[in-house]
Amino acid sequence: MTPNRRTLLAAPLALCAGGLAACDRFAAAEPTPPVVPPLKSVSPAPFGTAIKAMQIDDPDWVALARANVSQLTPEWEMKMEYVLANGLGRPNFDRTDRIAAFAQANGMAMHGHTLIWYSQGAEAFSGLTGAAFDRAFDGYIAAMAGRYRGKVRSWDVVNEPILDDGSGMRDCHWSARYGHDGYILRAFEKARIADPQAVLFLNEYNQESVPAKGAQFLKLVERLLKAGCPLQGLGLQSHLWIDIPEGVIAAYMRKIGQFGLPIHVSELDCTLRTDRRLDFRGQADRLAAQGARVTELASAFAALPKVQQFAFTVWGLRDTDSWYRQGAKDDGRDKPLPFDSFGRPNPIAAALAAGFQD
Ligand code: G3I
Repeated sequence: MTPNRRTLLAAPLALCAGGLAACDRFAAAEPTPPVVPPLKSVSPAPFGTAIKAMQIDDPDWVALARANVSQLTPEWEMKMEYVLANGLGRPNFDRTDRIAAFAQANGMAMHGHTLIWYSQGAEAFSGLTGAAFDRAFDGYIAAMAGRYRGKVRSWDVVNEPILDDGSGMRDCHWSARYGHDGYILRAFEKARIADPQAVLFLNEYNQESVPAKGAQFLKLVERLLKAGCPLQGLGLQSHLWIDIPEGVIAAYMRKIGQFGLPIHVSELDCTLRTDRRLDFRGQADRLAAQGARVTELASAFAALPKVQQFAFTVWGLRDTDSWYRQGAKDDGRDKPLPFDSFGRPNPIAAALAAGFQD
């Protein structure tokens, strides 16, 4: 997941290794917030954000969401880690029901995330084999996609099937039962039955930033389509970082666009931290590099044929809502999202508006 956590945790120490001067430079005065129109008004497609159920109780978050977004993706409470926390027999739908009701009450669309993911479900499915495993797998998808039929516009049916280095497909408890392509085919077929209207997506990160991973993803898409998989959309998570070379993002968007399928930029954020062992760049240099990459992504998305512009989703609204700013990972300074902790536009917001209006 972008720069690895160990490096990210080491980054603050490395920064200050250059002495107080470097720290002062990095902690330079905050830039004046740019003036940016509501993001949903400049985006060429529905503009979305990740949401946690508890944010519905935060009036500042609600106001910012109502002003800027028209689509919501549950950040974690629609996943097995929450839904199956009490086991397969006692699914928790309470928080996703609440998010669905909030979306409906506010005229926002909802994107389902995610039905089948390599990294979750092993515990709930442990001990199941053969037909029992099949019943649980098929039953989970039927229950989840069936419950939100007519409420979600689309689903990430399968999330992150490719190995980080792009050398192949991930092994997981799903592939152990059905094979690497088999579990994906089965998941899409069951989701299609459960919700014939939802647009069904395959979602992956680092496609644009790790060429081998992007290439592997595109080969998988080709195989799935040839096999008759009801794959209808491609999710480009876009957890970017500032050292992606110029032009790489736009080139990949053209490649992924060649299938003619709807594209969802599904989880945009751009951390200011990097994999570099010693990185003395100040905040201003990092923000400039971040803006260039985000504008490149927004502009490449806006250049897609209209029918392929499914939605553009940021993985949170305010910096402190970001997964990069939770717990031990938080360096207190990262600005990966469009708004600061007070809801004021960050440079990313201006970069998005610039890219959409290219
Ligand atoms: O809010 C609870 C807290 O009450 C509880 O005490 C704590 C202890 O477990 O958990 C907290 O919930 C955490 C939740 O994030 C909210 O912060 C969950 O444990 C934690 O697992 C969850 O992590 C999410 C992660 O996916 C795993 O589901 C992140 O928020 C979310 O940003 C991240 O999103 C993923 C996408 O789904 C797929 N692409 C990569 C992306 C980033 O990793």
